[in-house]
Amino acid sequence: PTAEIGLTGLAVMGSNLARNIARHGHTIAVHNRSTEKMTRLLEEHGDDGDFVGSESLEDFVASIRQPRAIIIMVKAGEATDAVIDDLVPLLDEGDIVVDGGNAHFADTLRRQEALEKKGLHFVGMGVSGGEEGALHGPSIMVGGSEHAYATLGPVVEDIAAQVDGTSCATHVGPDGAGHFVKMVHNGIEYADMQLIAEAYDVLRNVLGKEPAELAEVFREWNEGDLDSFLIEMTADVLAHTDAATGRPFVDVVVDAAEQKGTGRWTVQSALDLGVPVTGIAEATFARSVSGHVEQREAARAVFSQTSDTPGVDDEAGFVEDVRAALYAAKVVAYAQGFDQIVEGSNQHGWDVSPGDLATIWRGGCIIRAKFLDRIREAYEAEPDLTTLMTQEYFSRALKEGEAGWRRVVVAATQAGIPVPAFASSLSYFDALRRDRLPAALIQALRDNFGAHTYARTDREGSFHTLWAGDRSEVDA
Ligand code: 6PG
Repeated sequence: PTAEIGLTGLAVMGSNLARNIARHGHTIAVHNRSTEKMTRLLEEHGDDGDFVGSESLEDFVASIRQPRAIIIMVKAGEATDAVIDDLVPLLDEGDIVVDGGNAHFADTLRRQEALEKKGLHFVGMGVSGGEEGALHGPSIMVGGSEHAYATLGPVVEDIAAQVDGTSCATHVGPDGAGHFVKMVHNGIEYADMQLIAEAYDVLRNVLGKEPAELAEVFREWNEGDLDSFLIEMTADVLAHTDAATGRPFVDVVVDAAEQKGTGRWTVQSALDLGVPVTGIAEATFARSVSGHVEQREAARAVFSQTSDTPGVDDEAGFVEDVRAALYAAKVVAYAQGFDQIVEGSNQHGWDVSPGDLATIWRGGCIIRAKFLDRIREAYEAEPDLTTLMTQEYFSRALKEGEAGWRRVVVAATQAGIPVPAFASSLSYFDALRRDRLPAALIQALRDNFGAHTYARTDREGSFHTLWAGDRSEVDA
């Protein structure tokens, strides 16, 4: 056997990852269920490096040096289980099966348990960066054992994006940790995109600007704190004209956002963990709302459009308000996402380092941004940070952005422009900083109708009021 590593599943992500590995001088065995994709890869890109192509899974496995590391790049779900079932009988003790798809971390835990019983290692590996990233350097979040990482690590660190000489790949933690953090990465990606979309919508409809003009605004923003892949791409998309109609491209795309599931999983997991990820949740629900075409049509027929768009005297000032709102809401969304990672890690005993994650997300992945460096620094200065929002750099951004953020939410609300992520992140910020919350009333109501008890502000203990009786208080 000559190959250092193997990869099966040669759709675009898989073949680009294989080419990236080959280009870095690692001999790679490649296989695909239908041979055609494998032969095409070798024909078109065989010059990228040393590939060992096999038609059968048996020959593929036999061509890899032991302990074998085999990356599976197929659609998450049943397809992954099918490939694992075919592979396992061909493997030897100590071999490492790596799932590079967007798997649910619970599936990863299940698969790891099953393979461990057979003396095999299973690694759930989150790969971000889309097709281009896979080819030129993705961000790679590796789960599984230290032992497996000893074999796999050198290759993935080599092929990942590099920022300031540091690889954007790391061993995040054991078993499902890699896929868990990839899931939250995608949740943050949803929130980030929703915030960008709201900023665009407000600017366009309050200021009456054309997409091409707004492309310039985003381009400028990309020069400052907001500097990120998604902002840069937004400028690119807004500047694009549809060839068939000559209209702004964004106007010919159907306004119903789809999802493959990772955002939804993030919210489901956050509910289980008890972590309020309001930004990610609103972003996920906003996609659902956009897809409810019949309800939207019915509502449009009954309710007229709001025409109470506020006049804006200081256009540059309003643009700056929207920028500040976007940045402040982004701080909230990322702080919430990192809260979820910390809580998930605590509950599963994964010992994930949030600072290490911020480090590998600086390059390669979809949410890559200058901002991640600030998060890295924050966790470096204070590894047990309670919330990113109170750390000096971010608290300053929130304080400086607060007034503009409120103005934008007010203007959007008045104009009838939905800004669920801007508004809910502002509410979250207000909830955290508020002296007293109306949760006290909720506790009182719960005690009244269900004797659910409450705590008092003035002394320790758990209490119940005899609401139906003489209203005296008893220790619960
Ligand atoms: C990445 C992306 C990638 C993919 C998402 C899109 O990190 O490279 O997140 O994983 O683009 O799955 O998700 P939706 O289809 O759910 O928007």
